[in-house]
Amino acid sequence: MKLPYAEPYKYKMIESIKRSTEEQRKKWIKEAHYNLFNLSSDKVFIDLLTDSGTGAMSDSQWAAMMTGDESYAGSTSFLKLKEVVQKITGYKYFLPTHQGRAAENVLFSVKVKEGDVVPGNSHFDTTKGHIEFRKAKAIDCSIDEATDTSLLHPFKGNIDIHKLEKVFKEHPKEKIPFVIFTITCNTSGGQPASMENIKAVSNLCKEYGISLIFDAARFAENAYFIKTREKGYENKTIKEIAKEFFSYGDGMTMSAKKDGLVNMGGFIALNDEEIYKEATVYNIMYEGFITYGGMNGRDMAALAVGLDESTEFDYLESRIEQVAYLGKRLTDFGVPVLQPYGGHAIFIDANKFVPTIPRDEYRAQALAIELYIVGGIRSVEIGTVLADRDPFTRKNRYPELELVRLAIPRRTYSQNHMDYIAVALKNIYDTRHEAKSGYRIIDEAPIMRHFTVKFEKI
Ligand code: F0G
Repeated sequence: MKLPYAEPYKYKMIESIKRSTEEQRKKWIKEAHYNLFNLSSDKVFIDLLTDSGTGAMSDSQWAAMMTGDESYAGSTSFLKLKEVVQKITGYKYFLPTHQGRAAENVLFSVKVKEGDVVPGNSHFDTTKGHIEFRKAKAIDCSIDEATDTSLLHPFKGNIDIHKLEKVFKEHPKEKIPFVIFTITCNTSGGQPASMENIKAVSNLCKEYGISLIFDAARFAENAYFIKTREKGYENKTIKEIAKEFFSYGDGMTMSAKKDGLVNMGGFIALNDEEIYKEATVYNIMYEGFITYGGMNGRDMAALAVGLDESTEFDYLESRIEQVAYLGKRLTDFGVPVLQPYGGHAIFIDANKFVPTIPRDEYRAQALAIELYIVGGIRSVEIGTVLADRDPFTRKNRYPELELVRLAIPRRTYSQNHMDYIAVALKNIYDTRHEAKSGYRIIDEAPIMRHFTVKFEKI
């Protein structure tokens, strides 16, 4: 019998989490205006709001923290991190930032101008926010298969080459600062892009003289999927695979809070010296001097180790297989989840789960609230609330998918937690026909409303 996967680590320290009653949770979520972001974490039993900055660091990372060099300029922790980033990505220039959206802010300040278009595969919301804030437009060129939640396509994060070429043909080159390729693609369900597709996008970009930038928050997970799903990569290491796809692009923005295995941090890595030089000015203005960019020396030291650990196969196997384990348990219960299972999260298809709740009553949000009430589990809506209003018409944008994301923090929860989550969802699924109404928005911000939006129950 083949031995199953198992975590290549054991526990040295634990953090207590508290259970609560349904009555308590009903009260707390009402007080939080039915926005899960408003709950204090002690009111949450299992926190699947995000996999961003919520993972557990290793003993080697904690040891590295003690060696952090807090010098304002020329920190040796910066130099160590730069060396690791160059080794893994192959990019020449490196700028630390305090997190991923800060990297977007700095790079987009250089590159994105009013009236520009930025094609990509379902841009993440902060990415889209930074594009639209500059009065430019994000154009989604995801393959059509990405919106069919039951289709078993191995690389739903792929970009549709024809859609991309259409954008290239319809807009002058000067209006397209770059293509942004998000690996894995969070918005379409933690889905990877194939090496073949990355290469094809890269070739098309070269043909039209347009640069290619990766949003690489979960690049190591993407590399794992290439290794396990794409022919010709079975015997390559994760590091070799990552280096290869990065070689097809011109640079990257990174939220190190995901595959950096740290709680805070980010960076930009680039090949173009001119853009790097311009970006350093914005980095100094917004983030800090170029050898720390808003990060502590100790955090840079931990990130250098984290990047090395997250690009090892055994870690990635236990990580991705734990997420898939939850996916399989839910599938066995009949709960409609996005297929194939994502790298960092399981996405519940709320259109199939609660079609009885009208779309303009935010059915995915309603399901996320129910999951909190039933199990003390905090998830996040990836649907109409997140999709925000159209910046011009101010009308709700209804995305094709209404999802509830169960993001699994790295190296944090056990298989028992996964079982607990699966049973909580099964119980809701068994009574789903009783759900008839959802929620109404009573207050919202003009952009990125999901963080602070307030609801009332209909
Ligand atoms: N790009 C992607 C693909 C992301 O998933 C995120 C963050 C960012 C950029 C921004 O990075 O948070 O460090 O500023 N995603 C988190 C999430 C918030 O929950 O998926 P950040």
